[in-house]
Amino acid sequence: MKYVFLLVLLIVAGTAAAMGGVVALRFVDNMTQTPAITTGERVFAMPAGIVARGGTLILPREQRELAAKIPNPMKTSADSVAVGKERYVTFCAPCHGPEAKGGVTGPVATKFVPPPDLTNAQLQAGRTDGYWHSYIMAGGAVMPSYAEAMSSEEAWHIVNFLRSVAAR
Ligand code: HEC
Repeated sequence: MKYVFLLVLLIVAGTAAAMGGVVALRFVDNMTQTPAITTGERVFAMPAGIVARGGTLILPREQRELAAKIPNPMKTSADSVAVGKERYVTFCAPCHGPEAKGGVTGPVATKFVPPPDLTNAQLQAGRTDGYWHSYIMAGGAVMPSYAEAMSSEEAWHIVNFLRSVAAR
């Protein structure tokens, strides 16, 4: 009786060990076999007859005048300004400074090509929302483009934030 018990114990333990081994083997193996595709490594052809949806047309810098005519689809509100401010602090404050005064505050601004004072009433009046949106998405002479970093919507929120800090 004792031997039967030991035999059963041995079989159970053996089966468990084998199953565990298979799982471990698979796991280890999967880790080495994972297809890792790096950015730009593979370009997938678009299936025939389909239309891309959800994308945003971003006009290049050279078409700023045209982009300037695009109306702001994002109605300004406390929420919009809050989102815009959050993105502004993340992406723009190093150069434009937390107060958007340009060249006077900010870790980069004071040592770099001084950016314009975005709160300036004259500048604010002379630029359309579309113009500034284009500046964010397509960049300027020195200023980098942020089309890769944020959505078009987020850029409109930033424009709304910039309008909220206009000098009066
Ligand atoms: C690397 C520094 C840098 C960063 C980061 C930066 N800017 Fe600029 N920005 C500039 C400079 C310099 C100019 C002056 C024009 C030029 O040289 O491109 C400028 C110009 C602008 C203008 C144009 C003002 C006008 O009407 O003539 C706007 C609007 C603006 N920036 C907004 C932003 C916003 C919003 C962000 C964040 C998404 C941002 N900038 C990030 C440096 C920067």
